[in-house]
Amino acid sequence: MIPITRLFVGEEEADAAAEAVRSGWLSVGPRAAEFEKLVAERVGAAHGVSVNSCTTALHLSLLAVGIGPGDEVICPSFTFIATPNAIRYTGAAPVFADIDPLTYNVDPVHVEQLITERTKAIMPASQIGLAADLPALRKIADRHGLHLIEDAAPSLGATIDGVLLGAISDVTCFSFDARKILTTGEGGVITTDDAEVAEKLRALRAHAASVSTLARHTSTAVIAERYAEVGFNYKLTDIQAAVGVVQMGKLDHVVARRRALAARYDELLSGLETVGTPYEPAGYRHVYQSYAVRLRGVSQMEVMNAMAARGVATRRIIACHLEPAYADLSTPDLPPDLPQSARAAAEHVLLPMFVGLTEAEQDEVVAALTAAVSGSP
Ligand SMILES: Cc1ncc(COP(=O)(O)O)c(C=O)c1O
Repeated sequence: MIPITRLFVGEEEADAAAEAVRSGWLSVGPRAAEFEKLVAERVGAAHGVSVNSCTTALHLSLLAVGIGPGDEVICPSFTFIATPNAIRYTGAAPVFADIDPLTYNVDPVHVEQLITERTKAIMPASQIGLAADLPALRKIADRHGLHLIEDAAPSLGATIDGVLLGAISDVTCFSFDARKILTTGEGGVITTDDAEVAEKLRALRAHAASVSTLARHTSTAVIAERYAEVGFNYKLTDIQAAVGVVQMGKLDHVVARRRALAARYDELLSGLETVGTPYEPAGYRHVYQSYAVRLRGVSQMEVMNAMAARGVATRRIIACHLEPAYADLSTPDLPPDLPQSARAAAEHVLLPMFVGLTEAEQDEVVAALTAAVSGSP
């Protein structure tokens, strides 16, 4: 089977994890501090805060800017379920905006139409490796006094006009799960220029304790910590962070390799009329966390099943508003009308994309897709 992803981790990561284990400190500690600093410095943000996933990163980011019950947060429906779930965790309501069918990212015009007096934030997802239209969203957020909290889970390394994601939005959340650009197994990093928000995030990820467990562990004096508010246990371990430090050194290579593979897919698929290749707007650098093709007039499920039968794994992204978990968001009786999101969810397929994908494997993927869209066995 050609998998959807194959990890790009090796002996260096194994050694770093082993060193962390041998250090005598496994929870959030010096390696997590080094990892979050590396990410922040790389993306040009003043602060980085590591957490145990991007889902918890999104949750804490919303809380840190004061989002709560009664508030509305505008986000895409065409995204991973974690995006609206994180909004729900705070007691706020996700309000789904439609997407641009070419970029698969949220449509700023629709976002602005959805703003009400209850709207407190816009949470775009920079989907599958391509930045959302952050310049337009930034202007809208500023015009209406809203927070811009970006779900950049899949898009570490992506740029707009040469500027890396991570310092454009007020708060940016990256994922380091197993299928992302870089991985720590599970993990997330939040970047921001706002020192107050960063401090709040650091407290909330560790039960809002006034003193860290590491500080208490390394102190000879007795320290009585306090808990000013209800926090969470969302800490990244130092074992994971050690892997992350090594992975950060591979970012340029990973992005270059994914872009080269995407260019080769583009070329190999250029003759297939029923398959549209991904779009990269001028000035944007796509990092191809996923390579999404758009099917024209052929069934997504039939294509995915036919490819699986030939030993090629594929995936798809959902439209969250069509999932049972969000059925109750209908306002008042009708589900939100998001034609582009529904169409995209039904018409795209994600092909295998990972650093170690060989040309022979890529040829096999293309052969399986070609056969599937032409109905050949
Ligand atoms: C757009 C998006 N947001 C959020 C997440 C959640 O990330 P994590 O698995 O690190 O919680 C993902 C991961 O698949 C994602 O693709």
